[in-house]
Amino acid sequence: MTDSDGTGTARLREQAATEPAQAATEPAQTDLRRIGAHPDHWYPVALSRSVRRRKAFATAFAGERIALYRGESGAVHALEDRCAHRQVPLSLGVVEGEVLRCCYHAWAYRGDGRISQIPYLAKGDGRPPRGVRAYPVREAYGLVFVFPGDPEKAAAAPFPELPAFGSPRYRTMTYSRTVHCHYSFLHENLLDMNHQFLHRGVVGRLHPELLRFRSDERSVEARYLFSHTGGKRDRSAGLLAHEGIGGATSSDVMTIRTGYPYQTLDLVPENADHPAFRLWVAYVPEDAQQRRSHVYGLLMIEKPKIPAALLLAWPFVRHFTERVFAEDRLAVEAEQKAWDEQGEDRNHEVFAPILELRAVLRANGVPLGRPPGAACPGSVTCEAAPEAFRPS
Ligand code: FES
Ligand SMILES: [Fe+2]
Repeated sequence: MTDSDGTGTARLREQAATEPAQAATEPAQTDLRRIGAHPDHWYPVALSRSVRRRKAFATAFAGERIALYRGESGAVHALEDRCAHRQVPLSLGVVEGEVLRCCYHAWAYRGDGRISQIPYLAKGDGRPPRGVRAYPVREAYGLVFVFPGDPEKAAAAPFPELPAFGSPRYRTMTYSRTVHCHYSFLHENLLDMNHQFLHRGVVGRLHPELLRFRSDERSVEARYLFSHTGGKRDRSAGLLAHEGIGGATSSDVMTIRTGYPYQTLDLVPENADHPAFRLWVAYVPEDAQQRRSHVYGLLMIEKPKIPAALLLAWPFVRHFTERVFAEDRLAVEAEQKAWDEQGEDRNHEVFAPILELRAVLRANGVPLGRPPGAACPGSVTCEAAPEAFRPS
């Protein structure tokens, strides 16, 4: 685990919440809001259904514009979203078979970023560029993932494993939206359950008791016991967890984990042996300054004994989660606004799991600026054989 003692010494850490609280201080170091998401991971950048067959779709990772397109075969390709000719977005282009043709002068690109055709190039004309950068791309869980970092590392990089997705036992609700804040505010928001006051109008009075937390170089996990202590609550909270969170009088164990760069939340009702729901979420920076994050979430909800009951409850569960999310959005966007106005992080964090989380996000991220692997080697002029570019 990464301990924020300023020495860089790594040691395993596990702490029961009953142990004396450590000094809740953070040594002076780089402002966390100036740390970028490390590009050497698989990030979702679109819903699969948004990338239609024979169509292109514009997306981005940390200011790098990416053109996704789905070819005739159904395979998705990901290219730098700038034509090598005059930098017009390729996402405005036309898909022909497995090729993406720029909308302006009709240069055609293969899925590997190489130019397959410049229709009007005559023999002996000047040496054309090789093409544009192509990103490793994978599709899973109804999402399109790209690997924006060093492509050599893509094959070995861990890909999210979500056994509950597609399991007949669970049904998945998908979320996709932009939130105007740095991704670190979102990690902190979910991991720090001491903010239930914010949701008092939706879930009533919930008391989260930290049971324990642990961390290592790449992750922080906090486990809470949640009890309802009164107040009016949204009925859908009980539907979501089979009368778990916010429902009846039972308590729930909630485990939240940042396993860089993703985050998960499992809720196990008291006396149950498996989660009533599991949430997987990724916060993907959209702009270069990383003050805007695209949230992709998969909420996998266990089907009740009568599965149709969940179908009936589905719109209510959606409505409930959207209400909670709207409140969280209000808070994290206000945090970002304060940071923008102050020009720096003036937080006074007192909660040990969040101090650990901040250390993990800092240690695994990259300083903002041009992240490693962001150079566009495919877009530079090169010495590829000119014949390859002639009309075919
Ligand atoms: S700008 Fe793309 S072909 Fe000219
Ligand atoms: Fe919240």
